[in-house]
Amino acid sequence: MCGIVGYIGKRDATPILLEGLHRLEYRGYDSAGIAVVRDGALRTAKCKGRVRDLEQVVPPRFRGSPGIAHTRWATHGEPSDRNAHPHLDTAERIAVIHNGIIENAAALRRRLEGEGVAFRSETDTEVLAHLIAAMPGESLLERVRAALRLVTGTWGLAVLDRDRPESIVVARNGSPVVLGIGDKEMFVASDPSALVRHTKSVVHLDDGEIAEVRADGFASSTLDGGPTEKVRHTVTWTDESFDKGSFTHHMRKEIDEQPDAVRATLSGRLEPRFQTSHLGGIEMTARELLDIRRVKVLGCGSAYIAGLLGAQLIEQLARLPASAEPASEFRYRNPVIEPDTLYIAVSQSGETFDTLAAVQEVKRKGGRVLGIVNVVGSTIARECGRGIYIHAGPEVAVVSTKTFTCTATAFALLALHLGRIRDLSTAQGARLIAGLKALPEQIGAVLAQEADIAGLASQLARAEHAYFVGRASGYPVAMEGALKLKEVSYLHAEAYPASELKHGPLALIAPETPTIVVLPRDDLFPKNISTIEEIRARKGPVFVVTHEGDLPVPVDGVMRVAKSEPELDPILLGLPLQLLAYHVALARGCDIDKPRNLAKSVTVE
Ligand code: AGP
Repeated sequence: MCGIVGYIGKRDATPILLEGLHRLEYRGYDSAGIAVVRDGALRTAKCKGRVRDLEQVVPPRFRGSPGIAHTRWATHGEPSDRNAHPHLDTAERIAVIHNGIIENAAALRRRLEGEGVAFRSETDTEVLAHLIAAMPGESLLERVRAALRLVTGTWGLAVLDRDRPESIVVARNGSPVVLGIGDKEMFVASDPSALVRHTKSVVHLDDGEIAEVRADGFASSTLDGGPTEKVRHTVTWTDESFDKGSFTHHMRKEIDEQPDAVRATLSGRLEPRFQTSHLGGIEMTARELLDIRRVKVLGCGSAYIAGLLGAQLIEQLARLPASAEPASEFRYRNPVIEPDTLYIAVSQSGETFDTLAAVQEVKRKGGRVLGIVNVVGSTIARECGRGIYIHAGPEVAVVSTKTFTCTATAFALLALHLGRIRDLSTAQGARLIAGLKALPEQIGAVLAQEADIAGLASQLARAEHAYFVGRASGYPVAMEGALKLKEVSYLHAEAYPASELKHGPLALIAPETPTIVVLPRDDLFPKNISTIEEIRARKGPVFVVTHEGDLPVPVDGVMRVAKSEPELDPILLGLPLQLLAYHVALARGCDIDKPRNLAKSVTVE
C-alpha cells in the first residue's frame, strides 16, 4: 500500500508533491520518486529509502507542472532505485505511479517483451507505462482506459504524458484515490492528509472509475466510458492535526491524545434520560435491532482484536451471541450469511482491502452490515453506508493506539444501545454511563505513570521473546499488547489465553522469557494468580497489569490502572501496554513511527 500524490496548476508541483509524500509516508517507505513536466519533457527523480532521501537526490532546479509522486511499500520487486516509482515507457513520454497489484503483470510483460520492450525494473507497475504507450490514439484518458481494460488486479494510479501536460489521468480499482479541488488547481492523493494544507474540498473515486484531472476541474467516468457524478466532501481534520507537534513520535502523541479522543467518541452519544446511548449513524430502528439474533465482527490486525473485545461487550450487555473473525479468513471461507445476523466491519483507515472485500461479500449475499470507522468518507464507511465514526482524529503512526481505545469505547456504546432495547436495566445503563464518563480522566491517570512503565520496559527490552496472557476479556488485551510490542520493537511476542499455557507454551517459559499477565480484579483473579505461580515455578519473570490492591504473589513488575466497570476494565488495562511497547522500542532504537515492513493501511490483499 503505497502513497500517490499529484498536482496540476500554475504553481511548481515539486514542493507540493514532496510535502504530500511526507504526509503519505506512513503508507509505505521503501522508496520514493517524483516526475514533473517542463518544457515538453518529463523530469524524474527517484531512489530507494525515505522521502528525505529523495529530497537529497532531487536536482536543485527541479521544477514543473503537472507532477506526480509516490512513496512505496514493495510488493513486486525489492526496495531499490530502479523499482521505485514513477515508471516510464521506453520513449519516456508516459510516467505512471501506482498503489496496488497488477495480477496479470507477468503475462503482459511477456507479451510486451515479445514486442521488443526492454523493462528497466522488476515491478508489476512498469507494465502499465509500456501498455499505455502502446495504446492507439492521442487522448491520454482513452489510452489509459484502453490499457486498464487489459489489466486485472488492484490499482490507485496516476499517469502523466509529457506531450499532454494539460491533464493528469487517475483511476481506481481497490486502492483509494481522492481528488482535491482548489482554485484553478487540482490535487490527487491516496488520502486527504496529503492535500488538506491546500484544500478541504474533496471527491472520492469509486472502484472502476477513471478521471481526467485538469487545473480547472475534472471529469470522471467508468472504464466503459459512462460519465459519473461525484459528491463533494469537506475534510474536517486540520492540517496541524497531522503533525506530531512537540512530540518525538506520532505514536507517543497519539497515546497522549486518548483522553480527548475518547471524549470525542462519547460526545453527544450518552442519553442519561433513558440510561442508554444515542447512535444516530447506525440508521437502524429499535425494531430492526431487536430482530438481530447474532453479531459477527470483521476486521484485520488491531481492528480484529478490538472486534473481539466488542463481541464480548455485546454478549455481556445485550446477551446476543457475538464473535469476531479476521476479515481475510471470513471472506475466503464462503461464509453463510444469515438475515438476522448483524455484521460489523471495523477499520480505522476505512481502506483495508480484506475488510472492504468482506463487507462487499456480506452485502453481495444480502447481509446487514455496519461500519465502525475512524476516517470520515473512507471507502469502508461509504460501502457500509451506516455505522459509528469514532472521531479519534488522524492516526499517523503505523501502530494504532488511540483508534483501538476509541473503537473499544464505540463498542461499549453499541453494546449499551443493544442491551437497553433488550433486558439491560436502567440501573445497569446508568452504571455503564457513569463508567464511560469517567474513562477520559482514568486514561489520563494511566499516562501519568509513564516513567514507571519506562523502567519496566528497559528490563523487557533485553528479552528476545515474551508472552502475554489473559482470561476472558483480558485475552484480547493480551493479544493487542503482544501485537504492539511485535510491531514497534520487533521483540517476538505471543499472546495466549492463560489457561492454554499448560497445554504447550509453558514449555518455553524460562528465566530469559518474561510473561505479561493481564490481571483484572474480577472473579477470575484467583485463576490468574495460579497462572502466575505456574510461570514463576519455571523461573519465568512476570509483569502484571492490574488494579489497586496487594498481590498475593511476588512479581517482577506491576503496572496499575484505575478500576472501572468490569465491562470497561479492558479499555484501561490495555493502555500501559501501549506505553510499554513504545518504551521498549525506544530502548531498542527502533523507528517507532515507521516500523520495518509495515504500513498504516493495507490496501492490497
Ligand atoms: C495496528 O497497529 C496495525 N497498524 C494493523 O494491525 C491495523 O490494525 C490493521 O492493518 C487494520 O487497519 P485498519 O484498522 O485501518 O483497517
